[in-house]
Amino acid sequence: MAKRILVLNGPNLNMLGTREPGIYGAHTLGDVQALCETTGQELGLSIDFRQSNHEGELVTWIQEAQSSADAILINPAAYSHTSVAIHDALKAVGLPVAEVHLSNIHQREPFRHHSYVSAVAVGVICGFGIAGYRLSLMALAEKLS
Ligand code: DQA
Repeated sequence: MAKRILVLNGPNLNMLGTREPGIYGAHTLGDVQALCETTGQELGLSIDFRQSNHEGELVTWIQEAQSSADAILINPAAYSHTSVAIHDALKAVGLPVAEVHLSNIHQREPFRHHSYVSAVAVGVICGFGIAGYRLSLMALAEKLS
């Protein structure tokens, strides 16, 4: 049976394409979803792709993943730098987590240098734009095999 990957996107990522394209690029969230679905087909993964601007909704989806997913790929966006709740939820479900950021958060403002998610992730990919999602799916497929 195909391994199931929950792909979560945090706040403001619904605005990709028009949001600070010099930092985040010209691709839309729809492009990211298409890339994840194509990559999932290649790797034999089933992809459940979601975005929310609400921390609690992301926490609920992470909790539900305990029984409906084999791994989580997450771009927590701004919640990376603030959310103990998302850290705790990821830790509680205990699934393998890949953290991705479009931009290289370490090259940016100091408040972006720390992520609460990194401590509960198997690995982190940042700075490669939307290719980071593809690379993260490849890494998770390897981890689950
Ligand atoms: C981001 C980086 C975060 O610092 C920022 O708040 C985002 C997007 C990225 O993908 O580069 O919204 O996670």
